[in-house]
Amino acid sequence: MTDGNELQRIDRAVAFLRDRLGAERAAGLRLGLVLGSGLRDFAATVERPLEIPFADVPGWPRPRVEGHGGALVVGTVAGCAIACLTGRVHLYEGWTPAEVVRPVRTLRRLGVPHFLLTNAAGGIADDLSAGDLMLISDHLNLTGRSPLVGGHEPAFGPRFPDQSRVYAPKLRSLLQQCGQRLRPGVYAGLLGPSYETPAEVRMLRALGADAVGMSTVHEAIALNAMGASVAGLSLVTNLAAGIADQLLSHDEVVAAGRGAAALMTALVTEFCGRLPA
Ligand code: HPA
Repeated sequence: MTDGNELQRIDRAVAFLRDRLGAERAAGLRLGLVLGSGLRDFAATVERPLEIPFADVPGWPRPRVEGHGGALVVGTVAGCAIACLTGRVHLYEGWTPAEVVRPVRTLRRLGVPHFLLTNAAGGIADDLSAGDLMLISDHLNLTGRSPLVGGHEPAFGPRFPDQSRVYAPKLRSLLQQCGQRLRPGVYAGLLGPSYETPAEVRMLRALGADAVGMSTVHEAIALNAMGASVAGLSLVTNLAAGIADQLLSHDEVVAAGRGAAALMTALVTEFCGRLPA
């Protein structure tokens, strides 16, 4: 739940970052990039990097899960000024939705206009295989939670925000032009931390989900409500439970993320170069 002090907490983080980065550099940031499981290596490609550990930013939660880093890396990629979060926190760790979205809300309050949210996901659609990238066209928030629950804070958007286009059509078509086959699909966000049962995966398929994971939806909801343009990419690290005759392990999910890192890096670099000013 977002309590009445959340805006103050975020604005303390905003003031800290503006001070560390300098007002001009902070105001010039064009893309906020959230790196999911196994995808944090992208941060190494950021030029002129300034790395700020999550722990240094007042009020920011610290990622605890292996495979998720914990720093804000600010710099440029293909000429685009970028703020990269090398990891995120999740509801299943016990964080509240407000804590989960605090870093991205901070970047939005700092003035960042565009966001790309990445994650590792289990593939449900028949034509998705491990190693594929899926362009998120829409989501199912099946966590039963929302970062917008609580007293209404106008700085975080309207009381009842529209969700007709959570994933911005313009950013989606830009990503489609970046030279890789990207299958559009619906991402189902679940609470976790257990992977799904085969019956749950059959249910998700019937509900229209193409991939399933444990992140992203709350960040997308919060950013869309704040008027940011949002895109999402899922790296399919495994087929969802019951589809292949194989048990799921977090280590394999992280390893598959690393294996596809080059694919992601090429795509995101191209995307950065094409992002309008
Ligand atoms: N289910 C949920 N989350 C995931 C999966 C999955 O199969 N793979 C990677 N993250």
